Amino acid sequence: MHQSISVTNLIKEYSRNKEKPLRAVNDISFAVESGKIFGLLGPNGAGKSTTIKILSTLVAPTSGTVLVNGFDVVKQSLDVRKSLCVVLQENAVEVYLTVRHNFLTFGRFHGMTAAEIERKMGHILDLFSLHDVINQKPIDLSGGLKRRVQVAKMFLVDTPIVFLDEATTGMDTFNKRSTMDAIREEARRGRTIVLTTHMLEEAEELCDSIAIINHGKIVASGTTDEVKKMGLQMFYLSLKFSELGKEVEELLLKFAPVKLKIVNNEVSVTVREHHTALNILSLAQSSGALKHFEISTASLEDVFVELIDGKKARPVQ
Ligand SMILES: Nc1ncnc2c1ncn2[C@@H]1O[C@H](COP(=O)(O)OP(=O)(O)O)[C@@H](O)[C@H]1O
Ligand SMILES: [Mg+2]
Repeated sequence: MHQSISVTNLIKEYSRNKEKPLRAVNDISFAVESGKIFGLLGPNGAGKSTTIKILSTLVAPTSGTVLVNGFDVVKQSLDVRKSLCVVLQENAVEVYLTVRHNFLTFGRFHGMTAAEIERKMGHILDLFSLHDVINQKPIDLSGGLKRRVQVAKMFLVDTPIVFLDEATTGMDTFNKRSTMDAIREEARRGRTIVLTTHMLEEAEELCDSIAIINHGKIVASGTTDEVKKMGLQMFYLSLKFSELGKEVEELLLKFAPVKLKIVNNEVSVTVREHHTALNILSLAQSSGALKHFEISTASLEDVFVELIDGKKARPVQ
């Protein structure tokens, strides 16, 4: 299979006044095959955006080799740029142009004719449910909708490679869902997608393969199934009680939680096993004071506490 992206021993150091340089990316290597969705996951400050910026030629690497669509990001940056489009973490939508003119401008910039753009726009508007706002200006839209316009633009053009840095951040569940569907459809059409996220669930659902990065280093990588089997799955429980006894902390620590936080009558607890989560829930239920509960997959942040620091359960104040 043709490799769309190949990153070998990539290092990026940002220089700092008087201090030693900050190594934001510390010797990472990975490859992405054409038509696949690759997820770069990690907590804030891990080096995801820096990596995306290097791959899209916006930031120069300190050392290492990065090939995008077969072109070197340093020596053939123009060819690289023609091969891709990118949604950066910072919003870059034209807020004073209508949504329609955002599409027109972006398409023209990528060498499409007005007729081509019009022809394609209908489908994109369907895909992202943007028909209702086509004549509005993004400045008047919510943050999530603005983001949706920006992401939708990527699907107007036909570059073989798409980079999405936290594309769904700030979107509500419905928009997130349509964005994810659109990403999947683009990959089926043969485009290669590299996305970053700090939502493990999103990556699990979407990505063919992932790399987990922390402090600039890859700490786990492989197909999404392979990484999941490394035991990274954790569960997060949020419980609200009408009243809460003093003994509850001691009781919960017996379940060996990865993380436990008790504030007033609210408990949040992260555990490794599904059945542990359910056991805690049934215990909470039997107290007769449970008012509200939620169970979800733990955030990657929690996973990192376990994976990297290997910290034991500790009450967090
Ligand atoms: N332009 C920059 N100059 C100096 N330091 C930077 C710059 N951009 C990012 N950093 C630092 O590099 C590290 C990685 O940042 P970033 O790539 O944005 O991580 P992520 O996207 O995973 O949150 C952080 O410590 C961040 O503060
Ligand atoms: Mg980032």
